[in-house]
This record gives sequence, C-alpha cells and structure tokens, in this order.
Amino acid sequence: MRLTIRTFGVASLTLVLAVLAGCERPPIETVQTGFRGTAMVQVYNPRTLAKEAPLNAAPAVPEAASADGPKAKEIFKNVKVLGDLSVAQFTRHMTSITQWVAPKEGCAYCHNLENLAEDSKYTKVVARRMIEMTQRINSNWKQHVAQTGVTCYTCHRGNNIPQQVWYAPKDRKYANSLLGDLAGQNQPARSVGLTSLPFDPFTPFLLNAADIRVNGNEAMAMKGTAANRHSTKQAEHTYGLMVHMSESLGVNCTYCHNTRNFQAWDESRPQRVTSWYGIRMARELNNDYLKPLTEAFPKHRLGPKGDVAKVNCTTCHQGAYKPLYGAPMAKDFPELQALAAK
Ligand code: HEC
Ligand code: HEC
Ligand code: HEC
Ligand code: HEC
Repeated sequence: MRLTIRTFGVASLTLVLAVLAGCERPPIETVQTGFRGTAMVQVYNPRTLAKEAPLNAAPAVPEAASADGPKAKEIFKNVKVLGDLSVAQFTRHMTSITQWVAPKEGCAYCHNLENLAEDSKYTKVVARRMIEMTQRINSNWKQHVAQTGVTCYTCHRGNNIPQQVWYAPKDRKYANSLLGDLAGQNQPARSVGLTSLPFDPFTPFLLNAADIRVNGNEAMAMKGTAANRHSTKQAEHTYGLMVHMSESLGVNCTYCHNTRNFQAWDESRPQRVTSWYGIRMARELNNDYLKPLTEAFPKHRLGPKGDVAKVNCTTCHQGAYKPLYGAPMAKDFPELQALAAK
C-alpha cells in the first residue's frame, strides 16, 4: 500500500515538473502599473533584461565643439542644412554620423574623398534628408519623444540600414483557389509575434490612415447608412498592430490598456496617449520623408514591391519601453533639435 502511494507521488511529481518545464525559471519580477485588482502588471525576467541591456546602451558622446569662428556655409561649398554651425561643430557632426551610420566605411560611405562638396553618392543625398527628418522628430513630436529625443543612432545603431524596418510584403495567395488574397492571414509571421494575424499591420496604419478600431459606434448597419464599417478583417489588422506595439516595447497589453475595456481612454495609462502620437509620427516619417526618397535608392535597397524601407515602432524601440532606456542623447546634438532656418 505504502509503496503504491510512493510510486504515485513520484509519478505525479515528475508530471508536475514536466508541466513546469514549459514555464520560465524564477525569479520573475512583476511591477504593478494600474489600480489593484485590475491585473495591470508587467512581468519581467531579470535574465532577459541583463541580456538586452548592452543592446540598449547609448554610445559615448564626443566633447562639445566651439561655436566660434567662421560658419560652415562660409567655408564649405555645398551645405544646405547645417550651414549655421561653426566649422568645428560641423566637423564634430560629421564624425558622429560616421560612427552612427557607417563606422566601418568611414567618410567615403557618403563622400567622394576627392571632392567632399559633390553630391554624387546617393547615401549623401539620403543622409541630408535624414538630418532634416531627425530635426523634425525632435522639434515637432515632443508629445512622443519628449526631451529625450532621437539621433541617427536611435534607429541605425552603427548599421547602414536600421536593423528593424519594414517593406510591403509580397502578395501571398492560395494557388488555383477562389479564396483570393489571404490578407496575409494564417501564416505565422514575426511581424505579429508569430500569431496568424494579418502579417502586414503596417501598410494600413503606419502608411495609410485606416481607423484603428474594433467596434463600430452603432449597433447595426441600417440599409443605406454607413454604420459599422469596422469589419472583422479590420479588427484583425488592429490586433496585429497591437501585437507589434507590445513586442517592440517589450511589454504586454496592460502597459497601455485596462483590459476590462480596451477602448476607454479614461481607463488607459498615459503611455497609450504617447503611443497615439507615436503612430501618427511613424506615419508622417514614412509618408513625408522615406517614401519620397524611393527614387534616390538603388534597386537592391528596395522591397519586393519596389518600396523603400520604412519605420515602425521597433525601428527606434528595439524591445525597450524607451529607446536606449531613455538615454537623453539628443541634448548633446543641438543641431538635431531645431529645424534649420532656410
Ligand atoms: C552618412 C553620410 C555622411 C558621412 C558618413 C560623412 N558625411 Fe560629410 N556630409 C554629409 C552631408 C549630408 C553633407 C551636407 C550637409 C548639409 O547640406 O548641410 C556633408 C558635408 C560635408 C562637408 C562639406 C563639404 C562642402 O564643401 O560642401 C565636409 C567637409 C564633410 N562633409 C566632411 C566629412 C568628413 C571628414 C567625414 C568623415 C569623418 C564625413 N563628412 C562623413 C554626409 C556624410
Ligand atoms: C526614425 C529612424 C531613422 C533615423 C532617426 C535616421 N534614419 Fe537613416 N534610415 C532610416 C531608414 C528606415 C533607412 C532605410 C531606407 C531604405 O533602405 O529604403 C535609412 C537609411 C539611411 C541611409 C542610406 C543607407 C544605405 O546604405 O542605403 C543613410 C546614409 C542614412 N539613413 C543616414 C542617416 C543619418 C545621417 C541620420 C541622422 C542624421 C539618420 N539616418 C537618422 C531610418 C532612420
Ligand atoms: C504601447 C501602448 C499599447 C499597447 C502595449 C497595446 N495597445 Fe491597444 N491601443 C493603443 C492605442 C494608442 C490605441 C488607439 C489607436 C488609435 O486610435 O490610433 C489602441 C487601440 C486598441 C484597440 C481598439 C479599441 C477601439 O477603440 O476599438 C484594441 C482592441 C486594442 N488596442 C487591444 C490591444 C491588445 C489586445 C493589446 C496587447 C496585445 C494592446 N492593445 C496593446 C495602445 C496600446
Ligand atoms: C523615432 C523614434 C521612435 C519611434 C518610431 C517610436 N518611438 Fe516611442 N519613444 C521614442 C522615444 C525617444 C521615447 C522616450 C520619450 C521620453 O523619454 O519620455 C519614446 C517613448 C515611448 C513611450 C513611453 C514609454 C513610457 O513608459 O513612458 C511609449 C508608450 C512609446 N514610445 C510607444 C511607441 C509606439 C507604440 C510606437 C510605434 C507606433 C513608437 N513608440 C514609435 C522614440 C520612438
């Protein structure tokens, strides 16, 4: 009798261990972010955080350069954006962007070294527009980037092309089927956290301005009215975007929502408002800065449908609630803060 109980005990212990093996090993830390009882907590694994920390470290900042002496536009031949910097400041800027975007290739990545004034390399043409884009982010989108701001490093991190960008994916259709376009469904994709939600939540929301909604405001569509256009398909795209936003910040839904009511703004955290601006900012960067650069890029830089690489939340955040854990890098580069007077 005793023996049977013991055997049973061992067997059930083994079973419990087998089940628990699927869980994360402790310690796990939880941080409460909402009222008690709303289950608004974030779960962190200190080991994962330790692994991610070096990826989110900001690079060293070079000493500030003197503003004295002649201006860049008085000395150089072809400066259109940074002309009001002193020559020393201008040179500091050039060394910094080289470190941020082309540390291996050096000045030659953008310049013909025989003639630095020439615009013969597309990378220089793109970089000039990128300087303006960065100024725009820091000066016009303070509701999102606050005083922390961004530099080229926030997106590029030492790479010619930021590691996290998106293109319009190839159409994927069932072959020889009447089902037609899949809208990217039922094919687990990284862009939506390996769920089978539509794998391109970016084109509708971060390029176009489709409504990010699940419910209509009216119960039923009456004949002849435009009520409830919020279809199931649109709901699925909305969830796709939400999964992307959660993944790119390394948080779960309750970082922004009280899941009792996803829609209610008065029960949401302020971070949801920050995100609302973030969506509009990403949309503007894609439409006003990146898309118009399409012609400037060589073919091999474009996506399967010939579109330019575009920005989403991960481009800057890369898994952190604030890019580089909120390191205020931008303050050391005032030329990237203000829009240059034209
Ligand atoms: C990522 C691209 C990029 C890299 C790398 C780069 N530059 Fe530039 N450079 C530019 C852009 C863009 C301009 C024009 C800025 C403007 O219009 O205000 C420029 C302009 C210049 C000019 C002014 C030339 C003239 O007469 O008009 C000099 C000098 C210069 N860069 C030096 C350097 C040096 C030195 C390095 C390496 C330490 C370097 N650059 C690396 C993009 C780059
Ligand atoms: C908000 C994110 C973001 C910021 C900030 C940013 N870039 Fe970019 N940059 C991009 C994206 C996205 C691309 C890729 C476009 C493509 O390949 O289609 C790109 C491409 C480039 C390229 C072309 C590289 C190549 O090899 O094709 C250069 C050069 C560049 N950026 C320079 C800069 C400089 C200099 C700054 C800072 C003044 C900067 N970028 C800031 C997102 C950013
Ligand atoms: C970083 C903040 C953030 C996170 C994390 C987040 N959301 Fe959202 N969510 C928003 C914002 C902002 C909107 C409104 C977007 C707009 O109107 O432009 C929204 C809208 C929604 C809506 C539409 C509500 C309506 O009005 O119909 C649903 C549903 C939703 N989120 C579900 C989720 C789910 C599920 C998750 C987790 C997988 C999630 N969200 C994670 C910020 C967030
Ligand atoms: C151009 C770079 C950039 C892009 C793109 C971007 N963010 Fe941010 N985001 C930032 C910076 C910088 C901060 C830090 C602001 C601060 O210090 O308050 C930030 C802060 C936030 C915060 C506040 C976190 C907190 O706890 O206070 C949220 C939430 C957020 N971003 C969500 C998003 C979402 C969602 C997207 C995509 C729709 C997005 N961001 C796209 C740069 C970016």
